[in-house]
Amino acid sequence: MIKPIFFVLFTAVLGFAGCSSDDSTTGPAQTTERSFINDILPIFAQNCNGCHGPGGPAVGILDLTKNTYLRLVDVPSSTGAGWKLVVAGKPDSSLLYLKVALATPPVGVRMPKDLTPLPGTDIIKIKDWIAQGAKNN
Ligand code: HEC
Repeated sequence: MIKPIFFVLFTAVLGFAGCSSDDSTTGPAQTTERSFINDILPIFAQNCNGCHGPGGPAVGILDLTKNTYLRLVDVPSSTGAGWKLVVAGKPDSSLLYLKVALATPPVGVRMPKDLTPLPGTDIIKIKDWIAQGAKNN
């Protein structure tokens, strides 16, 4: 006698969830809108600019401290032929993302080099920002 009651409740919950997701958008679930200035630049400042900035060992490879947006989006990699650092809308084609996300990236080593990998929350911010069109926002 208990089972049918659970089934009814379960169906009601499913129905409710279905309605609420139909209401908002026709696309996939929305993630938080990421900001290049507020979400991405602080990650570089904290984890990358010691090497990728003036006086750092990797400033000649990529300077992340000035005109950063223009140095990343749609810019060919200086270390990996055929790669771009950021391809708007495509994290998996963006060397910047792959180098922070993968233990063995397709070019060179994981960033930040020789240090603890970024926390997952930062990696997801970079992924979302690229997936959302890599806006200069
Ligand atoms: C300890 C120094 C050091 C730190 C810290 C560091 N990098 Fe690097 N980075 C390098 C070196 C050296 C290279 C070149 C060798 C390689 O790619 O493995 C490089 C290469 C890169 C490249 C490839 C550039 C190109 O044009 O191909 C990207 C992208 C990059 N780093 C991003 C980052 C990011 C993002 C961070 C912070 C999360 C970071 N790096 C932190 C030293 C560093």
